This record gives sequence, C-alpha cells and structure tokens, in this order.
Amino acid sequence: MIRKLILEIYSILKDIALFASYSHKIPISFTFNKLPYQNLRIFIDIFLTKKYQKKIIKKFSLNDQKDYELGASNGIILNQNYFPEKILDDIKNISENLIKNYKQHNILVDDGGNLEENSKSFSRYYYLPNFDEKLTHEVAELYNILYSNNSILNQLNFLAGLNFKKKDIIIHISKVKGKLLSDDWHSDCFSHTAKAFLYLQNIEKSNSPFCFLKGSHSNVNLKILNQKENANSIFKNNEKKDKHGDEIWNKLEDSNYKKEIFDNSELVECSFPKSTLITCDTSGFHKKGFSDGQKERFTIGFVTKRGSMYEKFKSAFF
Ligand SMILES: [Fe+2]
Repeated sequence: MIRKLILEIYSILKDIALFASYSHKIPISFTFNKLPYQNLRIFIDIFLTKKYQKKIIKKFSLNDQKDYELGASNGIILNQNYFPEKILDDIKNISENLIKNYKQHNILVDDGGNLEENSKSFSRYYYLPNFDEKLTHEVAELYNILYSNNSILNQLNFLAGLNFKKKDIIIHISKVKGKLLSDDWHSDCFSHTAKAFLYLQNIEKSNSPFCFLKGSHSNVNLKILNQKENANSIFKNNEKKDKHGDEIWNKLEDSNYKKEIFDNSELVECSFPKSTLITCDTSGFHKKGFSDGQKERFTIGFVTKRGSMYEKFKSAFF
C-alpha cells in the first residue's frame, strides 16, 4: 500500500515536470489519468501549432501557400519528382557507399526497434551522424544534396509547428522488407509532429508503401478519446512505470474507436515512383504498408526531434 502511494507520488511529480515535453507521451500517474491532463496538452499543442503555421505560411509564395494549407488539413504533403533523376542517382550511390562502410563514417546501425522476435523480416536503419558533428566528406556531401532545396525543412517545420534547425533532424538511410512492428496502424505522439521519407526506388503495392489515414491527425474529438483510452491501457500494463518513449505504442488495432477513426479519415497508400518525398504529420495514424518480402524498400527518412511546448511557443511567437 505504502509502496503504491510512493509510486503514485513519484508519477504525479514526473507528470507535472514533463507536462510540456512531447517525449512524455502519456500521463503515468493514476491521478492524471483521471484528470484531463492529456486533453489540455492536446489543446495547447493544437493552439501553438496553428499559430506557428499561420506565421510561417506568409513567407511562401501564393502558390505554395495553397499546398501548405492543403498539407495542414490532410496531414500529408506529397512531392513527386522531388529531385531530378541524376541527383537522385547520386543520392542513391552515396547512400549505398555509406552503408557499405558505415563504421568509418560514424554511422550507427540498428533494426529501428521494428523487428518482431524470431522474425524472418529484414530491417536496417543507418543513422547519419548529427549535422553539427564532425562529418566525413561523403556524409557532408549527402547532407548538402538533401538540403540543397529548402522544402524538406520547411515542410517538416510547418507540419510539426516547430522551427527546426538542421541539427534537430535525424536522418537515416533504411532498407527494410517483410513484416515489421511498424506495419500496424499507429500514431507516433499526441502532438503534431513530423517525419519525411524520400523514396530511392519505385515503391509498389507489395513493397511497403507508406500508408496514412488522411485527416486522422486533426480530428480532435477522436484524438482525445483515443489518447485517453491508450493512456489508460498503458497505465494498467506498465505497473513498474519503466516503459517510455518509443516503447509506448498507440496502435489502432487496440482501440475501440478504430471504426470511427477509419470512417472519419481517408486512406492514402503511397505507391509512387522513386524520388517521391512524403512529409507527414505522424500524430495521424500511419503504417509501413504490406511487403511480400521479395524486394527491399530503400528510403531516406527524416525524423524531427519531439521538442516541447516551450519550443513550440518560442517558434510561434518569436
Ligand atoms: Fe510511426
């Protein structure tokens, strides 16, 4: 009993200290699971994100403004032929070389936390050293090409509602095939947050196309219900309070609101040719689509740091 009480006090303090942090995905205390803790965070996040979006959209040309507005309402921005063919080939060649000699480029490799036990699937994520670290010539060259066009950074900033610097973006080169944990519909975070994917090869229906439920990022009512449900279920299964960050999943499969969420959004399956760049608000439900396990999917991913409400506040008002 006393142990339980101490754990509850610890959890309440942690929830208060981390209220503004987007890495603190859900409340861990019983008290804040009962109180509208997560609702309040969702509302603050929406307010700050919209404020920032209104501010930066003015910097774009009138034509681009329309695309960004559509992106905010869909939660996804599709850019076909993002790089000319010759440049995409360069990106691909450099990426292959970096993967081959990853150790000498200070590239970290893991399975992305996506492999199920005893799985026959293949999943390799090669994380480039951070932009502000000492880079080898080849890594610097890849960064230069990827950021030769401002759109990637602009789109990530816009969808997440945060003013990122290049050092806030983690870039990985990935090769995956077969069934992975990320094959299930899931939402990354309660707050608006962004990721981008550049296809280095043509991606077909059977080769893990990125899939997104358009509009699921902005349906406030369903987001609140789903977040509450997920926080409660994790509260019950995380008695030791030792699960955090990316160990906490919000899978649509486990939700009683699954049908409503599907009915209120539109499924987009991104089977597109190489050189397609997809920027997406991954607070909306998404997944890595079906793979028949025949061919690897070869992509470059851009993952933004989660940040905090303080940082969104700064981005929105200063
Ligand atoms: Fe995800």
